[in-house]
Amino acid sequence: MTTYNLALIGFGGVNRALAELIRDEPERFASLGFELRVVAITDLAFGSLVQSEGIDLAAVLAMPRGSSFEKLPGGSVVPRNEELIKNCPADIVVEATFTNPLTGEPAISHAKWALESGKHVVTTNKGPVALCGQELRSLAAANGVCFEYEGAVMSGTPVMRMAHRMLGGLELTSVQGILNGTSNYVLGRMETGLGLDQAIAEAQGLGYAEADPTADIGGSDVRLKVAILANELLGANIRPGDVDTTGIQDITIDDVTRARAEGLRWKLVGEARRADDGQVLASVRPMKLSPEHPLAGISGATNALSFTTDLLGPVTVSGPGAGRVETAYALISDIIAVDEFIKAGVSA
Ligand code: HSE
Repeated sequence: MTTYNLALIGFGGVNRALAELIRDEPERFASLGFELRVVAITDLAFGSLVQSEGIDLAAVLAMPRGSSFEKLPGGSVVPRNEELIKNCPADIVVEATFTNPLTGEPAISHAKWALESGKHVVTTNKGPVALCGQELRSLAAANGVCFEYEGAVMSGTPVMRMAHRMLGGLELTSVQGILNGTSNYVLGRMETGLGLDQAIAEAQGLGYAEADPTADIGGSDVRLKVAILANELLGANIRPGDVDTTGIQDITIDDVTRARAEGLRWKLVGEARRADDGQVLASVRPMKLSPEHPLAGISGATNALSFTTDLLGPVTVSGPGAGRVETAYALISDIIAVDEFIKAGVSA
């Protein structure tokens, strides 16, 4: 059985969920034809740990927040990211640090160090993909490795891979989606009469919201996802700043209640579409949707993406767009893609 050595960059909710699955469910991976061994972890809170024979995940997962890897063999109190990423014996670097929507850092550097040192990168981080995706894809290709990022858009719901693999032969003219679980949850709670701030606090408690929830409410989280989708699925070359963005911060309970009375629902909709002149136009804005709209029935933190195709018309996929285990699944689907790439190379 093939063994892949992983380096976990960031040891917050998502990478911890992945570590728990590796600890508890080896048979899930064995059925895929590989086993996963974590050989390095680095995190701002814990420091760094490298153990080439494999880290005892049960032990590190039991360490309370506030403790440090310093006392473990191969441990250090300082997160030595550059040195660790370049030199640790990992085949795959799993980047799950926080998203920096302005610079994409430090995740862009993490990805570059990994790819330049011949390691595959899988990530759930939107920043590097939205701000530097083309460069990172080229760097991966130049180094004969993969850069995979399914979780950057709808967490574990594999919309990009699904579009590439299942919609072959169709012309895609637009994508329209509910791409932020927090704002959709908040709008739904406002329909029940809850105020914006209370609804945001609930979403934070449930773990959907970004560290800074203004990214969810103000639309900048969706802006990154729309930029990624426009480039990935419509062949555009746009930056997040090119996406015309309005969030839900000015939607009131009155607006929501009045829409309900008219049989309509407010939704924060991200869209990218090819105009007649071939240009791709991208936007994020609150829209009042009628019940017939494919996105109108999407409730709670669920996300959905509707592809407009020439032969089928709209094809809509819905599923989780946030959550630690759900997002960890995106990493698994990326690791499967890496495995396929490696095995295709071996058998070619
Ligand atoms: N904060 C995001 C959301 C998480 O609420 O959808 C996934 O990007």
